[in-house]
Amino acid sequence: MKHVLDELERRRDEARLGGGLKRIEAQHNRGKLTARERIDLLMDENSFEEFDMYIEHRCTDFGMEKQKTPGDGVVTGWGTINGRVVYVFAKDFTVFGGSLSETHAKKITKIQDMALQNRAPIIGLFDAGGARIQEGVAALGGYGEVFLRNVLSSGVIPQISVIMGPCAGGDVYSPAMTDFIFMVKDTSYMFVTGPDVVKTVTNETVTAEELGGAKVHTSKSSIADNAYENDVEVLLQMRRLMDFLPSNNQAGVPKLPTQDSPDRTDKSLDTLIPDNPNKPYDIKELIHKVVDEGDFFEIQPSFAKNIVVGFGRMEGHTVGIVANQPLVLAGVLDSDASRKAARFVRFCDCFEIPIITFVDVPGFLPGTAQEYGGLIKHGAKLLFAYSEATVPKVTVITRKAYGGAYDVMSSKHIRADVNYAWPTAEIAVMGAKGAVEILYRSELGDPEKIAARIKEYQDRFANPFVAAERGYIDEVINPASTRRRLCRALNMLRNKRVENPWKKHDNIPL
Ligand code: HXC
Repeated sequence: MKHVLDELERRRDEARLGGGLKRIEAQHNRGKLTARERIDLLMDENSFEEFDMYIEHRCTDFGMEKQKTPGDGVVTGWGTINGRVVYVFAKDFTVFGGSLSETHAKKITKIQDMALQNRAPIIGLFDAGGARIQEGVAALGGYGEVFLRNVLSSGVIPQISVIMGPCAGGDVYSPAMTDFIFMVKDTSYMFVTGPDVVKTVTNETVTAEELGGAKVHTSKSSIADNAYENDVEVLLQMRRLMDFLPSNNQAGVPKLPTQDSPDRTDKSLDTLIPDNPNKPYDIKELIHKVVDEGDFFEIQPSFAKNIVVGFGRMEGHTVGIVANQPLVLAGVLDSDASRKAARFVRFCDCFEIPIITFVDVPGFLPGTAQEYGGLIKHGAKLLFAYSEATVPKVTVITRKAYGGAYDVMSSKHIRADVNYAWPTAEIAVMGAKGAVEILYRSELGDPEKIAARIKEYQDRFANPFVAAERGYIDEVINPASTRRRLCRALNMLRNKRVENPWKKHDNIPL
């Protein structure tokens, strides 16, 4: 018996070495951890159970039959994160650069199938060179199988991708179809075709970092949802994120213990809005002061900063937060902000996460750049996402809610459940000055008359009561009591059930 056990241990040790000590050292020298070291950090201690560690590729071209490594470049299995089951696969860059072969793909699809069948989240750790070049179409077929499962799992279980090294070719499309992508600064990059191909085809000279580094994808392309300093930080943040997410679309949000009282008021919120309506303030201050223990997990903090989205908790239950940010472009809605928030709202709706919306929006951004860039279609995405969402939706208008943006930002008219306004709210078709310039064009030469008209308009519309008189606002609340009001509203809505008309799927303006 002993020699059988020894043989098992020998085979396990061999598999755990991946591409060998030299390549592991090279991985460490680049500031990167190995696939198994990453999984150890991500999962609860001793909870990870590896599957298929002895699988080898079947390629016989290019002398590949002499180059076999158990595991074939990807570590797969399941474990727990703070006690909840999560499936994981981690590309092993030390084995053929983590490239995907037919058998490597089979390992991933096995885990994807288990995650979907057992309704638990799946996390992919990427560090890979795309399709295994020696395998040709067999590798392409493998990618197709992975992609299909990404799509079938979408909206059923959370799928998270973490980019922790190069990520090229097929290895970018699977992450692109998952719910969130996170990157590591300086050591990770993603592109469909690398700098050499770019040079050949377009004659552009560009580095890997310039083409697809974390900075590009978190601030320009919006492909990535955030980037962290190193492997350890990104993995610890993934543990934190998982605590916010439900295991699947029917499990309901997790509830974490909290010491933060739902009745906590915050006097400082009574003075958050400056006296001058054109002066900005930081909406994140409101978010941090309202959610449990100030714990807010922001998504896409470096892209379209005029809107803030992310997860928090109220009385221990996860909520999604969407908030215009007056500090950036006065919180205006443009194409990027609309797309960013629409995707987030849809994620929340898929997974039954209630949505809190804080509104301070002067309207949609005018101009040719926006119109040529498809503002109508992108703005419609957010309108569509809020309208179709059946999760509990609670809205607080803190200051401006002008024009079409008033309707879009989770208004009563598109099925928000509870709509509050602070006394500082101004709900109107547009700001007073713009309105007067249109309505009283003939009086523009007379500054006194115009000033009087502006005051008249402000007195009539620069408040929440016109909307409240119509029932578009359920209650005008004291800013200090916002947390208490939100907790009460969310509790009242806990058993909300609304069904949209049957359809195969909708046709959101993509
Ligand atoms: C087989 C690969 C490989 C691949 C890397 N390796 N990519 N083996 N297939 N796709 C191997 C290398 O031969 C090397 O082996 C080891 O991995 C490390 O690679 P290096 O090049 O030494 O590392 P580095 O300098 O860090 O560069 C990493 C890299 C580069 C940027 C990923 O290797 C690269 O450009 N690879 C090819 C990327 C690519 O074009 N892939 C195909 C995309 S097409 P040794 O033995 O020396 O350790 C595709 C189609 C799918 O994916 C599309 C579906 C939609």
